[in-house]
Formats: sequence, structure tokens, C-alpha cells
Amino acid sequence: MDLPPVGLGTMGIEDEAVVRTAIDCGYRHLDTAQIYDNESTVGAGIAAADTDRADLTVATKLWIDALEATAVRPATEASLDRLGLDAVDLLYVHRPRGDYDPETTLPAVEAVREAGLTAHVGLSNFDPDQLVVAREFLDKIAAHQVEFHPLFWRESLLTDAQKHDYPLVAYAPLAGGRVFEEPTILNIAAQHETTPAAVSIAWVTSYENVVTIPKASSQSHLEANLAAADLELTDAEIARIEAIEREEELFPE
Ligand SMILES: NC(=O)c1ccc[n+]([C@@H]2O[C@H](COP(=O)([O-])OP(=O)(O)OC[C@H]3O[C@@H](n4cnc5c(N)ncnc54)[C@H](OP(=O)(O)O)[C@@H]3O)[C@@H](O)[C@H]2O)c1
Repeated sequence: MDLPPVGLGTMGIEDEAVVRTAIDCGYRHLDTAQIYDNESTVGAGIAAADTDRADLTVATKLWIDALEATAVRPATEASLDRLGLDAVDLLYVHRPRGDYDPETTLPAVEAVREAGLTAHVGLSNFDPDQLVVAREFLDKIAAHQVEFHPLFWRESLLTDAQKHDYPLVAYAPLAGGRVFEEPTILNIAAQHETTPAAVSIAWVTSYENVVTIPKASSQSHLEANLAAADLELTDAEIARIEAIEREEELFPE
């Protein structure tokens, strides 16, 4: 899939005007999920924006209670109903948990793709071993969405994305705001006369095959995050950020 460097994470967005503003600012990749309980809001924002549906990549995710083979299609149709769309561009398995069973879940998700309800199938929060198994049952992994920011990232998942050439969609690129207090990030931001948010997004998107989906509500944050991918960090700065001690992940289960 060809995803732009910066898309919009919508977890916690409950105002369709934010989605509309984001699209008007230039966002073309919108990420929601059944568990965010805001697919209707995202759909209303898409409908209100001036941009053609065909120019947008809309992604949603099947929650862990919708992964039994017989549940996948009705759950996908319910998401489409809430979004007000005929199809999404990317349908993820949100987590390999709950009703997830690769042998039954993934063929059912493939069937939904073949029926035209999604253009692509993605995975989220999978371990490298789980990706290997998933590959046996999927035509291909179109994208893998994982926690990835200066305070937590997994090199093995980056390597898998680069080796198999699919986008790694980095979620929580600002660690929900925690990077704003990280001394190395603050120091590099001061050198570039920019914000820690911009440095964090620029670092995440500096890797081959990595795109990101920061969540933002205000127009100023939306615009700043979109522009941040243009900030160029030096190899030395990238290495300094890689050396930051990795804390525990924010979204373990
Ligand atoms: N697949 C998964 O399991 C999973 C799990 C977690 C998250 N996600 C996805 O990833 C997205 C992002 O993750 P997240 O929302 O947890 O965290 P995040 O994007 O790292 O951080 C969002 C926070 O940073 C603030 N912010 C955004 N831009 C800013 C800027 N330029 N300057 C200062 N503050 C800024 C936002 O405030 P304002 O809203 O006030 O602008 C918000 O409080 C989610 O919305 C969701 O789509 C996926």
C-alpha cells in the first residue's frame, strides 16, 4: 500500500469537525477502529469534507470479539454502516487475541476482501512469530500497525516490514505526549528550533517503510504534525534517539 508519511489517528476524537479539518489540511489517511466507538464521527467528517472519497485511505479495525469466522463479515458490514462507506481501504485485525485463530479468522477476513468490503487486509500488534503464521493464511499483509515512538519500538517488526516491503504504521508516535519531556528529544528540538512533537514524528518517519498516525485535535497540531515529516534529522541525531532507553510499551494488551 502507498500510505502518506503522516495520517490521522482518531482514537479519542469525538467531533466530526476535527476529521473534516484534518482532511481540509491535507490528511489523506484516516485511522479508526471499532473499539474507538467513533466510526460514525469519522464517517461524518469524511462526508462533510471537500475531498473525493477516492483520494482518501480509510482504515478500521476488527476488535477481538469480532474475529470468529462467522462474525467477521457482519462486524465489517456494521463498521461500513457506521462509516457510511461501501468499503474501507484497509481492514485490520486489531489484536491477535480474544476470538483470534489464524486458521479461521484470516480466511474469513480474506473472504471479506474478496467480496470487496475492503481493498486491503492489515494486522496490528502482532509479534514476528505471529506474522509468520499469518502469512500462511493471507494473500499478503498490506500493513502492520504497531506502537512505535522514541520510548518504545521493536526493531524486529521494522526489519520484517522492510524485508517483506509493507508499511509499518507507527501508532502513538508522541507516546501520548510523553516524548515532550524526554531530554534528548528536547535537546534536538532546540537545535532545530522546532518542537519535540516534530522531532518525534520526523524520527519515526525517517525509517524506510514507516508511516505514522499521530492523533491531534486542534488545527495547529494537525498542521504541525503534517509538516513534521519534512524535518530532516542527521544520522547522528537518529542514532541518539535510537539510544534512548526504551520504557515499557503504553499499549501492551
Ligand atoms: N492499533 C492499536 O492498537 C493502537 C493503539 C493506540 C493508538 N492507536 C492509534 O494511534 C493513534 C495515535 O495514538 P495516541 O492518540 O495514543 O497518541 P499520540 O498520537 O502519540 O499523542 C496524541 C496526544 O498528543 C497531542 N498532540 C498531537 N500533536 C501535538 C503537537 N503537535 N504538539 C503538542 N501536542 C500534540 C494530542 O493532543 P490534542 O488532541 O489536543 O491535539 C494528544 O493528546 C490513535 O489515535 C490510534 O488511531 C492504535
